Amino acid sequence: MGDTSIFREIADKIKNARKAVVLTGAGISKESGIPTFRGADGLWKRFKPEELATPWAFERNPKLVWEWYAWRRGLMHDKKPNKGHYIVAKLEQIVSHFWLITQNIDGLHRLAGSKRIIELHGNIWRERCVSCSFRRENMEVPLKEIPPKCPQCGSLLRPDVVWFGEALPTDALNDAIHHSETCEIMLVIGTSAVVQPAASLPVMAKNQGAFLVEVNPESTPLTSLCDVSLKLKATEFAEELEKVL
Ligand code: OAD
Ligand code: ZN
Repeated sequence: MGDTSIFREIADKIKNARKAVVLTGAGISKESGIPTFRGADGLWKRFKPEELATPWAFERNPKLVWEWYAWRRGLMHDKKPNKGHYIVAKLEQIVSHFWLITQNIDGLHRLAGSKRIIELHGNIWRERCVSCSFRRENMEVPLKEIPPKCPQCGSLLRPDVVWFGEALPTDALNDAIHHSETCEIMLVIGTSAVVQPAASLPVMAKNQGAFLVEVNPESTPLTSLCDVSLKLKATEFAEELEKVL
């Protein structure tokens, strides 16, 4: 890692950018102790997405789906942001037009101090009613009632997250596309870049002339498109960038 010039270049590009965007995935929270989805010890090796993270699974067996989310909430609730989350929050302070687009539902970016966050896949600490417009934050671990019921209409509550086969929240997706197409630099940290439409955002940025940086110990479908690909963990990247900011 000794070569700091690449980090200087990235820092300069960020500081001089009119707009910068960071896109994150599960990899940025890995060093906080939260498992990723893909890879050797990923969640989708042990569980089948279609049995747990789809609207059909929830219709068939809401209790099972809620137990899986309750388990994940249990895994996440005592976890702390790491240097990766903190450097992203710091970049927001430096760039006048900064946006963080995350696929993560764990809430760690907010805990690290990020404010301008677009949560593409929702948030595990929010619940919403399947029938009415009721929505609430619920940080309770463990959950008192599984599956929880809507206090307004008695229907089932569901986690306010996006499942396979569902559309992303329209406003979040439109904002994400807009900022991706108008940024001058995009950092893509800790995503396998295989889940759409999130995986297309860096392609949109690149097509509009943005400088694309990937931070990921592994190669992804995006790697060859990037101007710089850093085969580092998010925290290692954060430590190096911090030195030259
Ligand atoms: P994945 O689990 O697919 O990918 C995690 C990526 O992080 C991999 O490319 C790893 O190489 C990389 N990685 C691992 N450790 C890292 C570290 N310390 N620092 C940086 N990178 C590291 O997670 P996502 O790309 O976020 O969707 O997955 C996308 C979506 O698929 C998720 O939002 C979720 C899932 O199904 C929904 O639930 C809708
Ligand atoms: Zn309701």
